[in-house]
Amino acid sequence: MEESSVLRRANCRAKGGAPGFKVAILGAAGGIGQPLAMLMKMNPLVSVLHLYDVVNAHGVTADISHMDTGAVVRGFLGQPQLESALTGMDLVIIPAGVPRKPGMTRDDLFNINAGIVRTLCEGIAKCCPNAIVNLISNPVNSTVPIAAEVFKKAGTYEPKRLLGVTTLDVVRANTFVAEVLGLDPREVDVPVVGGHSGVTILPLLSQVKPPCSFTPEETEYLTNRIQNGGTEVVEAKAGAGSATLSMAYAAVKFADACLRGLRGDAGVVECTFVASQVTELPFFATKVRLGRSGAEEIYQLGPLNEYER
Ligand code: NAI
Repeated sequence: MEESSVLRRANCRAKGGAPGFKVAILGAAGGIGQPLAMLMKMNPLVSVLHLYDVVNAHGVTADISHMDTGAVVRGFLGQPQLESALTGMDLVIIPAGVPRKPGMTRDDLFNINAGIVRTLCEGIAKCCPNAIVNLISNPVNSTVPIAAEVFKKAGTYEPKRLLGVTTLDVVRANTFVAEVLGLDPREVDVPVVGGHSGVTILPLLSQVKPPCSFTPEETEYLTNRIQNGGTEVVEAKAGAGSATLSMAYAAVKFADACLRGLRGDAGVVECTFVASQVTELPFFATKVRLGRSGAEEIYQLGPLNEYER
């Protein structure tokens, strides 16, 4: 069969209202982007998956598109194809940008990644202004406010739809706390609030579920390990990048929650870095309830112990 007729049928299937959402990944050929694309192709809530990058987008797309799962996959390469990649999307996930090398802080990435995020968000404002945006590119504490400014300038800013992805901090916190408690990490829920960089990452160990208590030494160990989990991976990879596989897992966990919210599921709660009035800071990571319009309810911090305050 001719390739064009196969593509036509796939497009028909995508257009023909196959149940599910349209999702774009920007930076899909990168260390995070590739496993993230693979995991999103496995997500039954996704009907169309657009993979955009400035390199190797078509190679990754060809590879992922052979998976026998429902989502129709299309690849888009370089700036001239950005608008096609974004048109009609319900959710846009952004892992585009450079990662850290040993000795770098997330702030060292600011100059390059700020420009990348700005251009991509200009495209979102133009082509899918109502999409939920999951921003992974670091420094999240700064790229989210930059994205907000781009959307304000374009007149499309809706704070509930712009979400910085801090799920990896929660995933790490659940894992490390479970190790200390001798539990299965799937049974553990640790809220992580604040930001996504060093000491701004604050696990609320006093609010862990199931309820438990920690010695001062355990609190100090866990807080430090969670805050420096990213650096632990950067150093272990010794110049080959930062967390990619655990990050892709975390990004999919968060994206799936956003899609369940979009579908109208009740009680979808995750931590995210979002415009907030919980503290005096304009953006802050806390638990939020995700719904059809994004972060529909932003939860207060709850009772903090002295260490956390
Ligand atoms: P990577 O370098 O492996 O991949 C980045 C991808 O972005 C590359 O494929 C590159 O071609 C692409 N890219 C660069 N400029 C682009 C543009 N203008 N448009 C579209 N794509 C573009 O990096 P990796 O490891 O995937 O990390 C990506 C970002 O995620 C970094 O900023 C890193 O710091 C951040 N990160 C965030 C975490 C979080 O918890 N939020 C955790 C780990 C990493």
